[in-house]
Amino acid sequence: MATNKPKMEGEVFYPSDEIIAQANLKDWDVTAKAALKDPQAFWATEAENLEWFEKWDQVLDDSKPPFYKWFVGGKVNITHNAVDRHLKTFRKNKLALIWESEDGKTDRTFSYYALNREVSRMANIIKAMGIGKGDRVTIYMGRIPEIVFAMLACAKIGAIHSVVFGGFSVDALAGRIADSESKLVITCDGSYQNGKLVELKKIVDESLKHCPSVENVIVVKRTGQEIFMEPGRDHWFHDLCALPIANGKCATEVMDAEDPLFILYTSGSTGKPKAILHTHGGYMVGTYATLKYVFDLKDEDRFWCTADPGWITGHSYLVYGPLINGATAFMFEGGPAYPYPNRWWQLIERYGISIFYTAPTAIRALMRFGEAWPNKHDLSSLRLLGTVGEPINPEAWKWFYRVIGKEKCPIMDTWWQTETGGFMITPTPVVPLKPGSGTRPFFGQDAEIVDEQGKPVADGEEGYLVLKNPWPSMLRTIFGDDERYVSQYWSKYPGKYMTGDSARRDKDGYYWIIGRVDDVIKVSGHRLGTAEIESALITHPAVAESAAIGLAHEVKGQAITCYVQLKPGFAPSEELSEELRQHVSKHLGPIARPEEVKFIDKLPKTRSGKIMRRVLKARAQGLPEGDLSTLEE
Ligand code: PRX
Repeated sequence: MATNKPKMEGEVFYPSDEIIAQANLKDWDVTAKAALKDPQAFWATEAENLEWFEKWDQVLDDSKPPFYKWFVGGKVNITHNAVDRHLKTFRKNKLALIWESEDGKTDRTFSYYALNREVSRMANIIKAMGIGKGDRVTIYMGRIPEIVFAMLACAKIGAIHSVVFGGFSVDALAGRIADSESKLVITCDGSYQNGKLVELKKIVDESLKHCPSVENVIVVKRTGQEIFMEPGRDHWFHDLCALPIANGKCATEVMDAEDPLFILYTSGSTGKPKAILHTHGGYMVGTYATLKYVFDLKDEDRFWCTADPGWITGHSYLVYGPLINGATAFMFEGGPAYPYPNRWWQLIERYGISIFYTAPTAIRALMRFGEAWPNKHDLSSLRLLGTVGEPINPEAWKWFYRVIGKEKCPIMDTWWQTETGGFMITPTPVVPLKPGSGTRPFFGQDAEIVDEQGKPVADGEEGYLVLKNPWPSMLRTIFGDDERYVSQYWSKYPGKYMTGDSARRDKDGYYWIIGRVDDVIKVSGHRLGTAEIESALITHPAVAESAAIGLAHEVKGQAITCYVQLKPGFAPSEELSEELRQHVSKHLGPIARPEEVKFIDKLPKTRSGKIMRRVLKARAQGLPEGDLSTLEE
């Protein structure tokens, strides 16, 4: 244990001398203080570690808030920094990506040299289909290496990728393709989930009935199942690879630092999902620096982020962050407990994973199977652990720390969002930890907890979490909807970014996230909106109206409960309830399947017709219903 321990309140886990000795950055306080005093200088130094075709003239242009611009005038390409630049160093022959199939029968490994070959080939093909700078490409695949190639290939030629999580279904996919006006979709015939086939291509076919913008579909063969191929529109990837245009070098486009890199749809307060837009320059610097400091990356590390590339965690810390840092990333096709609950522990042992980053929901689920499963495996390669996506309960934190990390691996509880692009409230390995707290804002950032009027609340009190400083990997806008960007994030507390989370800060300046204050539900760390679930329900002929709420769930964190008002002629029944759950699963995706569908005669609404979900939530929890003065008669 470290000798110099600051005195702090509550239960504190101090970093060991060994951890401090090997940390790249030993003095958190000094860096934090300097970065807070001059965030632009901190970020400029980080940006200088990367390669630019042309250097920026201005670090931050904040003349038109909240439309901040970073590294203005700089010319760059994120794929150049994630792939190309490593080819000039010893990393050319280093493993960039290690992958294992769900059934464990196949592994595939790619050096940076091989990664460049794969990305270039995919980029040549996409380009030959007429895709260029600024065009949108939807990627809808399972967790296989080609999803990484596809993302990097789009970035390489300046196209904007829009990855849709493979666990979403027709309604979600169609809506996202249509909104982005993608000309190209990259998909697979199918994917595996717990030994079962998911018919991805079939879902694409269904979706494209509503998406006139799509001209071509590239299909990667993964499962070999029988699928429909529309002549002229659908192309097997392996057939395209055999064409002469696929081979040879592919130039990496020179992009403006502020050119869009990707959009990623996420659920907001109300209405349909928003396309969060990130850029080449700022996002690149943000993911690079946050990962480097927080997970203390070293060349000999093997970094495993269990997230799917369909979510921001996969974008930033499975694909871009590790590769920009020249690390070795590990990617696994399957989930934690198939065929047995030792699957992940087996992989940590087999590949010598040194940094393991996952979600609290997975830890809680695996905890239930008992310690015997992890104890069967040698986990001594682990050096650091991490969690993300939802608050971690101290019990799960301690289990993770003791059983998986053997009390020697600090846990980096990283708080951030699709919108922030990278870690915002997070420790680094040398920071004392308190189970359940993300500790303090990352370098250059300052957070505050405020009341309804925007006034800071006292330490220990709950309030709204806001961020005070712009940062490079911040979202630039909602694609095609600047107004919504301003109203959603910057209107309630002018000059401050509204996170949508409530939190409190303790006497030591540590932040404790409580949860969302809007209509976002976090199911197993996956972000879903009540509106999406309700619009899926309304397409069922029996449903007149519905309301979705999130209720606490032991493993998933939150689970969905829906209240349904039936149309005349339909009667409540167990069968109908089950049918509606399946309906949501089929239309929106299995991750959105409600835990419960309950029938209600009349939904509580305000006089202006808005559903009062908080009243339903209070009733379900047996809590006081609060102020009902706006409730309609
Ligand atoms: O409520 C917070 C929760 O996840 C939300 C962001 O969700 P999403 O955009 O899907 O990104 C998730 C992965 C970055 C936040 O508003 N959240 C995320 N990380 C944490 C968290 N809540 C508590 N602790 C965390 N470490």
